[in-house]
Amino acid sequence: LGVAKAGLLKPAGRIETRMTPAALVIGGGIAGLTAASAVAGGDFPVKLVEKETELGGLVGKLNLLYPRDDSAREFLEKRIGTAEQHPAIEILTGAEVVDVGGSVGDYHITIEQNGQSSEFDVGAIIVAMGAQEFEPDGLFRHDGVKVITQLELEQELRDQSVDAHQVVMVLDSIDTPHYSSVSAATALKNSILLKRTDPKREVSLLFRRLGADLDRRTIREARDVGVRLVKYNGRGKPQVTDEVVEVYDQLRGEELSIPYDLVVLAMPLVPREDAVRVSLMLRTPLDGNGFFLEPNMRLRPQNYVRDGIFVCGSAHYPVDVQESVFQAHRAAAKAVRYLSHGTVDSDTPSAIVLESLCTGCGTCVEACPFLAIAMEEREGTLSISRIDPLLCKRCGNCAVVCSAKAIVMEPYTDRELIAQINAALAAPRDGEPRILGLMCEWSGYAAADLAGAEGLQYPGNLRIIRLGCSARFDPYHILWAFLNGADGILLGACEPGMCHYVGGN
Ligand code: FES
Repeated sequence: LGVAKAGLLKPAGRIETRMTPAALVIGGGIAGLTAASAVAGGDFPVKLVEKETELGGLVGKLNLLYPRDDSAREFLEKRIGTAEQHPAIEILTGAEVVDVGGSVGDYHITIEQNGQSSEFDVGAIIVAMGAQEFEPDGLFRHDGVKVITQLELEQELRDQSVDAHQVVMVLDSIDTPHYSSVSAATALKNSILLKRTDPKREVSLLFRRLGADLDRRTIREARDVGVRLVKYNGRGKPQVTDEVVEVYDQLRGEELSIPYDLVVLAMPLVPREDAVRVSLMLRTPLDGNGFFLEPNMRLRPQNYVRDGIFVCGSAHYPVDVQESVFQAHRAAAKAVRYLSHGTVDSDTPSAIVLESLCTGCGTCVEACPFLAIAMEEREGTLSISRIDPLLCKRCGNCAVVCSAKAIVMEPYTDRELIAQINAALAAPRDGEPRILGLMCEWSGYAAADLAGAEGLQYPGNLRIIRLGCSARFDPYHILWAFLNGADGILLGACEPGMCHYVGGN
């Protein structure tokens, strides 16, 4: 199979293009501010775009920071001051990125601020847009007065306006996969604070789980200051009535009825509402929970050009302030290293359009998950599809959907694949069924490879053809194989949500 293909391979050309030596940071929370200062410290100009009119993000709404009880306001003011005073940082608040055009190394950014749009170019983008508190919307009788969220409590703590003697905290992930130790840490921190500021106050913390990564000392401290910790399970969820919270205490095995004058809900952090819109503009994948994934080397080693897009802070997954700052420094270091190259270069072949065959139907434009294809108008004739070689990730979607077969993609061209299929089926029949395997290199092929490495056997009548992604599985190749003697075809693709090319499977 390898020989049949090798004879048809073509050498790849080299692409080199200039890099715009500037960065965009999306998000003016603690991660964005830290990343902007660090990139500017690496001698690259930075534009920091924040949707809200004030900088600070979630930290701006906090009272004290876990675990050292530093003042959130003071901590933030220092970071804002550093960013504002840096001559290489331009801060744009009340502004939104509305379009990201251009290509790798030279993105054309359009933002809207005060109803006006403006444009600028950058080579690297850091996504630091954070997360938001899950909106309870009436859950547990949330009304913003007697039943409030942790963030609403933080505001009352800052204003020193908490007027409650019986407080019940409910730590619940609302059956979403968004449980985060950040919510648990916040609930613990505030329980302790409420008890410390008024030892006579009764504080109960109802939780389903506290998370193994929480500092044990904090849990012990909560017990020591008199916070009543109550573990419940999924079936015995707390019920908030007019005057009491009813809950089944799983550890003591008893029904509790806890009077309250304030219920505080520790809601999970969830992706920001505009995460999907931004991910589409940036062509960056989101994970199953809607948080940003950074398409890094582990995802598609060697097979793509680095986009210059980096993610940090709670845009990734819910993290506390320390972790946010750490991730921001790491993202900034990567961005500075990336920008320092000065050019973007690649010798990875992209999909290419055979002009003489393209009918200008535009199907490939819709099929490309990376927005790498556009139609170009041609005078007096049909439009033609153009593929940006730097944005192309070679998933194979376009080559399959093109009914004119006008898109070829080394090293998985139709000629090469048909030659491999022919070679796989060339041996005379020996009574066993002939099975052809078309395998994405990340799942089916990796499994077969691993089987070999572990000394496991699979039947010799299975012949495997390796493809980059299952997006390149072509019905024509399958028909060709059946017409030429295959008895069965095994398709090996990544599980849903696990495709290394976002949605190839
Ligand atoms: Fe395996 Fe796309 S990478 S299906």
